[in-house]
Amino acid sequence: MYKPRRIGILTGGGDCPGLNAVIRGVVESCLSAGVQVYGLYDGWRGALTGEGRTLSYADVEGIQTEGGTILGSSRTNILKVDDGPETVRMRMEQLGLEGLIAVGGDDTLGVANHLRKIGINVIGVPKTIDNDLSCTDYTFGFDTASNIAMECIDRLHTTAESHSRCIIVECMGRHTGHIALQAGVAANAHLILIPEYPKTFDEIMRLVKSRHIHGENYTIIVVAEGFELSKDESKELEVDQFGNKNLSEKGLAKELADMIEKEMRSDDTLPEECRTFECRYVVLGHIQRGGSPTAFDRVLGYRLGVKAGQMAVEKEYGKMVALSGIKIIAVELDQALERKDVDEDFYAAAELMFK
Ligand code: F6P
Repeated sequence: MYKPRRIGILTGGGDCPGLNAVIRGVVESCLSAGVQVYGLYDGWRGALTGEGRTLSYADVEGIQTEGGTILGSSRTNILKVDDGPETVRMRMEQLGLEGLIAVGGDDTLGVANHLRKIGINVIGVPKTIDNDLSCTDYTFGFDTASNIAMECIDRLHTTAESHSRCIIVECMGRHTGHIALQAGVAANAHLILIPEYPKTFDEIMRLVKSRHIHGENYTIIVVAEGFELSKDESKELEVDQFGNKNLSEKGLAKELADMIEKEMRSDDTLPEECRTFECRYVVLGHIQRGGSPTAFDRVLGYRLGVKAGQMAVEKEYGKMVALSGIKIIAVELDQALERKDVDEDFYAAAELMFK
């Protein structure tokens, strides 16, 4: 009996604006070549249980306009589950899936790479608002997240100025400061603190004080959540199945706000009005990941999805799709897992604005 070819797709890790565009791209390119697409629910969890559904053209029509993922996501790590990879292999056989398209960040793609090594057909699609995956110029979701952060920072200027305050804005960015730098430069932050370029508290204070000495009445500081203010590891943070700490519990922005306020109030060399100096902080958190993607992310996601689908049709497994300039290309999956820091020239250009 004729059995149509079928591939699976899953979206894993933190959700990201543009995921639905990827799913549409995969479905469009596979169905047009006569290959069925089975969407697994909740990332690697669906690959373990087999839960999911066959996707039709109707299922994906117009979904590139929506945030989130119609397949759901989770941080399930099959490498932490007994016989996880073999269970996935068995589920794929049961469902008649000849390969898997895994859409995710370094954790999800790390699992995909493990499966590749044990002979399971996988294709990776890079995804993270953090934009920190190497081998691709940009990851989708980053543009949306940076634009959301930029709009928030724009708004904070007027209230900070009206009250002569310092406002600390914490952006996502677990290991790198791509969002903080992009949004901070675009929205005229007075200082941007990111993990790649450590700064001491004294250096931070030098800038804040100098602004007041020079007659500026307010300061906006943008900080990436992964920035290390102190080496204090005493606070136990919750970790996920991949060992990632929940940085939103760290209280970085609050700690920085408290420290700056205290230092400004206690420095009697500063003008008298600094005795009542006030700081506020805002943690942008998941607002940066929610809602509708920008045009850039919709189109990038769709193009990556189309290419991944075409590669599945051609049985070109073991690779990851990537953006290189204006082209979508395929790169080796294991090369793609390295971290991409912010560009040093970009940070140096931003530093010219820190005054
Ligand atoms: O990895 C993307 C990311 O958005 C990070 O910037 C952030 O630290 C993390 O996910 C938050 O994860 P969760 O949604 O599990 O709290």
